[in-house]
Amino acid sequence: MAELDRPGGSPAVPSDWTYAPAPESRDVVHLRDRYGLFIGGEWLEPSETYETISPATEEPLAVIGQASVADVDRAVVAARTAFADGWSSLPGSERAKYLFRIARILQERAREFAVLESLNGGKPIKESRDVDLPLAAAHFFYYAGWADKLEYAFPNRRPRPVGVAGQIIPWNFPLLMLAWKIAPALACGNTVVLKPAETTPLTALLFCDVLRQAELPAGVVNIVTGDGRTGAALVEHDGVDKIAFTGSTDVGKAIQRRLAGSGKKLTLELGGKAANIVFDDCALDQAVEGIVNGIYFNQGHVCCAGSRLLAQESIYEPLVEKLKRRLETLRVGDPLDKNTDVGAINSAMQLEKIRELVESGREEGAEIYQPPCRLPEKGYWFAPTVFTNVAQSYRIAQEEIFGPVLSVLTFRTPEEAIEKANNSPYGLSAGVWTEKGSRILWMAQRLRAGVVWANTFNRFDPSSPFGGYKESGFGREGGLHGLEPYLRFDE
Ligand code: NAI
Ligand code: MG
Repeated sequence: MAELDRPGGSPAVPSDWTYAPAPESRDVVHLRDRYGLFIGGEWLEPSETYETISPATEEPLAVIGQASVADVDRAVVAARTAFADGWSSLPGSERAKYLFRIARILQERAREFAVLESLNGGKPIKESRDVDLPLAAAHFFYYAGWADKLEYAFPNRRPRPVGVAGQIIPWNFPLLMLAWKIAPALACGNTVVLKPAETTPLTALLFCDVLRQAELPAGVVNIVTGDGRTGAALVEHDGVDKIAFTGSTDVGKAIQRRLAGSGKKLTLELGGKAANIVFDDCALDQAVEGIVNGIYFNQGHVCCAGSRLLAQESIYEPLVEKLKRRLETLRVGDPLDKNTDVGAINSAMQLEKIRELVESGREEGAEIYQPPCRLPEKGYWFAPTVFTNVAQSYRIAQEEIFGPVLSVLTFRTPEEAIEKANNSPYGLSAGVWTEKGSRILWMAQRLRAGVVWANTFNRFDPSSPFGGYKESGFGREGGLHGLEPYLRFDE
């Protein structure tokens, strides 16, 4: 680095000193040129295709199938056949063995999956490596443990599998959302047709190789790639007994309308606009780390992101000051670099949505702050952003931005914090920062949110149920609760 070559070897640290590149090797990933649809344990040729790219470079990665209505039908038939041909009547202890195997193989191949996840989705490698992969494996381990204990989990209720589960997942945690959906479905004896998001199909397609290694019977899990049309075909298929959807509120509402009266079971995990509430007695540096983690983790592409910071007026100034200073240290860039904190925005479409909402924030009168950072020329990028001087009515305080953009509001009393936090059509998560235990409990009782974190944020565990209120959806994933949507009870 040029800075180190300065004559005289001055001891002063150069002001523009940067991190040396620390790229994770891509060699561990072996991409095929094109991928078919994984149906009945075979790769079927799709009639239509599209290209999937790396959002960090816009480089094409592979040709992907766009599954048609007929392809979806084939996948549902394969799932139904596998259900009837033995999977649903297999003893739970046998189903558990497959889930344990899948979990172990994911651990063994974690590096390969982490690199592919970052390549296709744009998230920093340290997040795919340290969060997505360990949690995905943990979900399979966790639900493997339930597979032979369903009678204990639901005593005297005769739990039975539902049948064929249609599962539609988003692009922000592609493999992790696959694990959240597939692990409980299989543990309960169902078979699956899963549709990954159109921008991030590659780890789901690599997962088919894990299924082959685990010798899962053909047709128990089928993966059909494609965009919303493929998802809609799955929702509308009469042979599907249950739909599990994670994605936007608009599509979630459309699915709910479509399924009303159909008798199909439905769970919806939709968006959020979480309040991260900071009281003046909190450990301030810890809170700043929690705020940063809450909104800049995964570029803010997180349904439970802490996108509204509610700061108690008495600490507003030092808090915002510290936060801005902390933002200057965030490294934005190559997702495959091990030092990167904020990676690429997932797609051109999502970048456009972020830009539009940020523009509305400026126009409505909020004050914008972005730390100085050089963004790569190719690819989709957005600098970490903080808005202060935000009114409750502004779009940036109401709508889900799903990007690295924080809106700061203030409050005086705990009652006011609750009013403001709950003043949202969403209700997925919330955070509370205070040293006072009784206040945490008081707040948690009143916050209309499925998850409330105290003195931490974005913490996940497979044993802990996750899901929302109001426009954030219904049903729970994770924990004992996460089994219920995949069971029927002959009472
Ligand atoms: P989306 O809801 O369109 O996509 C999510 C999944 O649903 C994808 O697999 C997509 O192919 C599928 N899909 C789309 N239309 C469908 C239909 N009519 N029937 C069945 N499946 C369909 O979300 P999109 O457009 O990618 O993102 C828009 C916004 O949604 C984001 O900016 C964000 O605010 C929110 N979102 C929330 C997520 C969450 O985790 N709750 C995840 C992704 C997006
Ligand atoms: Mg959409």
